[in-house]
Amino acid sequence: MDWGMKNRISRIIKPEIGRTVMLAVDHGYFLGPTTGLEEPRKIIAELLPHADSLMLTRGMLRTSVDPMNSVPIVLRVSGGNSIIGDDLSNETITVSVKDAVRLNVSAVALSIYVGGKYEHQTLKNLATLVSECEEYGIPVLAVTAVGKEMTRDAKYLSLACRIAAELGAHIVKTYYCEDFEKVVKSCPVPVVIAGGKKIPEKDALELAYNAIKDGAVGVDMGRNIFQSHDPVGMIKAVRSIVHENVSAKKAFETLKI
Ligand code: 5RP
Repeated sequence: MDWGMKNRISRIIKPEIGRTVMLAVDHGYFLGPTTGLEEPRKIIAELLPHADSLMLTRGMLRTSVDPMNSVPIVLRVSGGNSIIGDDLSNETITVSVKDAVRLNVSAVALSIYVGGKYEHQTLKNLATLVSECEEYGIPVLAVTAVGKEMTRDAKYLSLACRIAAELGAHIVKTYYCEDFEKVVKSCPVPVVIAGGKKIPEKDALELAYNAIKDGAVGVDMGRNIFQSHDPVGMIKAVRSIVHENVSAKKAFETLKI
C-alpha cells in the first residue's frame, strides 16, 4: 500500500486507537429530503466537530460544508436510483475519481448489492472504482447495501463483506447482526457498521457497543444520530463508546432526552 493510501486511511481510522466515528449524511442520494437532513448545512455544522469523518454526496459537500473544514470527507460516488424507482440495486458510478481528487476527499464510498437484481453491475462498479482509485491512492469504502427482500444475517453479510474485500475495497461498511464476530473475522479489511433505521437511543448505543466488542473498527452512523432528540449528545455518546470503550449504559446516561 502506498504512502498516500495509508495516509488517507489513517485520517479516517485513527491510528492511535484503530477506531473511527464516521458521520453518514448521504441518505438524500436515493431518499431525497430525509428526516433530520432537511437543512443539511445546519445539522452538519453542529455534528461535524464530533465526527472523525463525514460521508456525503458531491452536491451536499459543495453546498453544505465549509471548504475550510478539516474533517476528512468520504464521498459517496454511487447512485442513480430512488426509493420509488425500479430497483435500488440499479446503481452506477456517479462521480469521477478526478472530481473526487479535486474535492480533496480522503476516501470514496460505493454500494454493492450482493444478491440484488443488479448485483453484477454493482460489483463491477466496485472493481472499476478500486482500479481507478489505486492510481491516486484513494481508499474505497464498500457499502454492503441490503435490499428489502434480503436478510441481514451473518451468512449473508459475511458473503457481501468478503466479496467487497476480495474486489479490493479498503474498508467495508455493513450491518450489525447475530454472530457479527464471524463477519469481521472473515473480512480481511476493517469493518464499520451502519446504524440503520432510527431506533431508541439506548438500543442504538448498545448496537454500537456490541459492534465494537465484536471487532468493528467503528461506526458509519446516520439516522440514529441526526434523527435523535439530542443529535449532538448522541454523536458524543457514540464517540465515547468507540474511542473510550464506555459502556452503552453510561453513554446513554449522558443524553439529554
Ligand atoms: C445508505 C448509506 C448510509 O450512509 C447508511 O445507511 C448509514 O446510515 P444509517 O446509520 O442511517 O443507516 O450508506 O446506503
